[in-house]
Amino acid sequence: MISHSTSVPPMVHGHEQPTPGHLPVHIAVIMDGNGRWAKARGLPRLEGHRRGLDALRNLVRAADQRGIRFVTVYSFSSENWRRPAEEVSELLGLLRFFIKQDVADLSARNVRIRIIGRRDDLPPDIVNLLREAETSTADNTGLTLIIAFNYGARDELLRATQNLVARVVDGGLAVSDLTEQHLSDALDTSGLPDPDLLIRTSGEVRLSNFLMWQLAYTELVFLPIAWPDFDGSALDGALVEFSQRQRRFGGLNEQPVGQASGQA
Ligand code: FPP
Repeated sequence: MISHSTSVPPMVHGHEQPTPGHLPVHIAVIMDGNGRWAKARGLPRLEGHRRGLDALRNLVRAADQRGIRFVTVYSFSSENWRRPAEEVSELLGLLRFFIKQDVADLSARNVRIRIIGRRDDLPPDIVNLLREAETSTADNTGLTLIIAFNYGARDELLRATQNLVARVVDGGLAVSDLTEQHLSDALDTSGLPDPDLLIRTSGEVRLSNFLMWQLAYTELVFLPIAWPDFDGSALDGALVEFSQRQRRFGGLNEQPVGQASGQA
């Protein structure tokens, strides 16, 4: 893991552009630092989350403009229930607000929405809103926005395992026939490509139970800025760093990611 602050190349005229053709297909984002952003300004934590929602809106636009096809964002983890009830309620409220306020506009921009995470312990009105957001955008062909809400990778793997074990017990699947593909298909992210790039803001350097199966070969970029300060320029910095990484997937190809298809 290389921190963005030490390995990103010097900015040219303050803003280095990613090289076209060297882009990740799928970016996953841990939108961290809302609370610290608010505290540093003497504002309530909710204000940090509100500004975080603005940064999320900007991310979707910026990623779409740059040709990114999939964006997965961590907006509420299965461990976030441990926060004070008031903050949990505010985060649920912000999700309601976002779905009601933004889905029509996102859909008009051809964005498809997928939600990952456990639904059976969410309030029923939120379950309905999430289902509507998915069904009303299911036929869109542009960027796919995947919102991880009430999501934890261990919980996802547990539910996938329960699902597969049930199929084995039913007799529909033999243990000896189980493959990685079965497990992949039993995850919430079924049918989606694995992320190529993970960005985490706020300076924390950990995965926090996010997409642990899917991130096996993902390039990790950790940014020192708080999520509300994330903008198109920060995205471009991460994309430049991604384009300079060597992706070998366990093999021996030592070309930078951007040159993989261009050289013998
Ligand atoms: C982590 O920062 C962020 C969250 C737990 C919530 C993320 C939510 C948003 C960005 C906006 C809402 C988006 C939707 C789709 C509802 P933190 O609060 O843990 O920051 P801290 O570590 O500085 O306290």
